[in-house]
Amino acid sequence: MPAILTVPCRSVSAVIDQHCHAERRQRFLELLGGAAAVIPAAPLVTHHADCEWPFRQNSDFWYLTGFDEPDAVALLLPHRPEGERYVLFVQPREPGAEVWTGRRWGTEGVVHHFGVDIAHPLADLPTLLPDYLHGAEGIAFRVGHHPSVEPLVLKAWAGQLDRQPRVGSAALALVAPCPLLHRLRLQKTPEELERLRKACGISAEAHELARQAAAPGGSERQIQAVIEQHFLSSGARGPAYGSIVAGGDNACVLHYIANSDVLRDGDLLLIDAGCSISDYYNGDITRTFPINGRFSGEQRALYELVLEAQNAAIASVKPGGTAEEVHATALRVLVEGLLDLGLLAGQVDSVIEQGAYRHLYMHRTGHWLGLDVHDVGAYRLGEHPVSLSPGMVLTVEPGLYVSDRLPVPEGQPAIEERWKGIGIRIEDDVAVRDGSELACGHEVLTAAALKDTADMEG
Ligand code: GLY
Ligand code: MN
Ligand code: MN
Repeated sequence: MPAILTVPCRSVSAVIDQHCHAERRQRFLELLGGAAAVIPAAPLVTHHADCEWPFRQNSDFWYLTGFDEPDAVALLLPHRPEGERYVLFVQPREPGAEVWTGRRWGTEGVVHHFGVDIAHPLADLPTLLPDYLHGAEGIAFRVGHHPSVEPLVLKAWAGQLDRQPRVGSAALALVAPCPLLHRLRLQKTPEELERLRKACGISAEAHELARQAAAPGGSERQIQAVIEQHFLSSGARGPAYGSIVAGGDNACVLHYIANSDVLRDGDLLLIDAGCSISDYYNGDITRTFPINGRFSGEQRALYELVLEAQNAAIASVKPGGTAEEVHATALRVLVEGLLDLGLLAGQVDSVIEQGAYRHLYMHRTGHWLGLDVHDVGAYRLGEHPVSLSPGMVLTVEPGLYVSDRLPVPEGQPAIEERWKGIGIRIEDDVAVRDGSELACGHEVLTAAALKDTADMEG
């Protein structure tokens, strides 16, 4: 076996083409004002010994460059003249290395294929960086995330500050690129929505296959294999995150990824899995169904409650709404239902205010989705929740988890044994759409994954 396994992917996607990346860079350059941005690529990450994980590009770097090799650094330089504003440092062509790790585009390749103005070998970064940053009003760099690049940026910046009394100018501020960049990433373009539809479509198909494959006596791992086989055979890179295949009480462990148990007659199976496609857009779907094809009375009651909460929450996704309202909508339906079932006691408002439901529902109802599964972008700006607007994509994923792992809050009823071991989550990916295009104000990207009670028993 060769000692180094990873082959960088050289494909350039059909829908998100270089034109899209160039537009993003232009918008980012405008937002930067006079600050020069330093955006590093991801490094290869060791799995064990000298074997590495498959390469996963840094999402900010990918968003701006579409370049899928490790060990590169992009400079966006609004203070430089046209034709010198996009500089990329890359690993140079080197047949002796490429025969182990795959073809590289090299400095000439990135100029011809990736719209780069000027390219250099990465080894030249320490000597050239100070000159490129010279004349910028600030330096936009994410401190704390890029240990090999950070000392170079700080050294270049320190040099400028030292010389400022003599030369009269220096980048006075080190600023975070993230608020600017992540504001752009939060708002998906039509091309990005198309890619998310693709990721969600493959993910939904996998869930349908998984439900057909599940039966008492099988194993969680076999179902994981069905799902991930479909991701790969559909051309996706693989799972977007560790697939959760959780039978029975395992579903009450939110990040259960061991997938090492058998599937038991009478249990539910919770599957939280989604794929990552070639340009890193992700699906994130959860479905829960009875392994033997029939809900018990308790399972059905809780499943229908979570489904009602999720449908109400999805209906609240529209321009002008907020992620906070989506959560509040789901939470109120869940708490009202739990009060009716006797799993909670008291008045709905005070149960919510006191958080007296958190032993049964301990997470939020969703997150932004995009190049990262838990995608970037603010949920609040100071006191104000961010308003939903067309192009934003979020998950809607209420759940209920009945176990004795967490103590029952004072004043709340003890949980009868018949409810325990039931963990249910239903998760869809939802794009906010202009009301003039879609009257409901949203599009459920994962609608191909069935979720009605009768379908879960089919
Ligand atoms: N699969 C991760 C999540 O649902 O947030
Ligand atoms: Mn999610
Ligand atoms: Mn999920």
